[in-house]
Amino acid sequence: MECIEGLLSARANAAGSSAIRDLLHLLERPGMLSLAGGLPAAEGLAPGPFAAAFERALRRGGPYGPPALQYGPTEGIAELRALVALDAQRVDGRSDEDDVLVTTGSQQAIDLLARVLLDAGDTVVAERPAYLGSLQCFAAAGARVVTIPVDADGLRTDELERELRAGLRPKLCAVVPNFQNPSGATLSEERRVYLGALAEHYGFVVVEDDPYRALRFDGDELAPVRRHTELAVTLGSTSKILAPGLRVGWVIAPAALRAPMVRAKQAADLHTSTTTQYLALEMLSDHAAMEEHVARLRALYAQRCHALSCAVGQELATATFTPPRGGFFLWVRLAGIDTTDLLPAALDEGVAFVPGAAFTTATACRDYARLSFASLAADGLREAVHRLHLAIMKV
Ligand SMILES: Cc1ncc(COP(=O)(O)O)c(C=O)c1O
Repeated sequence: MECIEGLLSARANAAGSSAIRDLLHLLERPGMLSLAGGLPAAEGLAPGPFAAAFERALRRGGPYGPPALQYGPTEGIAELRALVALDAQRVDGRSDEDDVLVTTGSQQAIDLLARVLLDAGDTVVAERPAYLGSLQCFAAAGARVVTIPVDADGLRTDELERELRAGLRPKLCAVVPNFQNPSGATLSEERRVYLGALAEHYGFVVVEDDPYRALRFDGDELAPVRRHTELAVTLGSTSKILAPGLRVGWVIAPAALRAPMVRAKQAADLHTSTTTQYLALEMLSDHAAMEEHVARLRALYAQRCHALSCAVGQELATATFTPPRGGFFLWVRLAGIDTTDLLPAALDEGVAFVPGAAFTTATACRDYARLSFASLAADGLREAVHRLHLAIMKV
């Protein structure tokens, strides 16, 4: 085994393991209440509609048998790309079918972008706190990650501009524009426009990773950064609205990026499963059913967010947070408490969460905790917060 470890690539070693990830293996313990994962609600995963959609997908004929069971194009099946483009066009005013590359979850799109844009030592800008999965891709690419803080209106574009003026030259800047994972923040309209202008002035790609877009509790949808600049690429996913098990996501990008991404994807997995692409297509193209389904999800998550927010407000005296307007997460500050130290005590009490330090490469966010309200019903959320309170009393 030691011999094999010595053979591992720099890329494999850069990806590293994490103490927090190791602790979260304890999630399997019986009776554990988890606020840790970003798992969609089980109530949203009714098997019936999937079974019916699968039947329909298998009934589609083709010269080589059902296309849902055959190899397919690396770019993804044409009908799904057209459907994604139509929806994107409505908000960005520019996308067409050719711009869309279907990926194996939006996570693969981040990995492909890192592969085609980054050499070891290149600089990327990430949010502070950032989506953990993108930090992993950037680490594996050997990139230097510079983090810019997020406030209630998303990425601090003024701070980013200050760094750029001081000489920072990133190849890409990654943001989660809606109901960010983990902070819950939404990038304001003004900052979207500004980020687009900064990208054009300084010449970097904006990666707008947007899996939570449809899960807005109230208010109007904001136009994506891609509406404001051709240098933005938008990532989407079926994971939060249909099922993460499908592993169907996409990236909408200009040809200059898409062509090398297609080549990198070919090397990685030839194409995303045609079976799940057709299943996703059948589900998404039933517009009336989808509208109803997404409305139900929005109401469910809004109700759970409310339940968790109330419980945190009542039980955790020092906690502060900005209520999110969608998505899965409450980003709670527990002033004076190192949440990495709190985690083992919380696991002992039977509740899991992700400590803030996991979401940044900098020594920041140490008194924050990401609490997901997506997976547990209101009673479970209240009990989980009570257990968290007991753990806090012990540290
Ligand atoms: C911000 C963000 N981006 C990407 C992903 C990956 O999603 P997918 O299941 O589409 O790969 C997640 C999943 O939690 C996420 O929160």
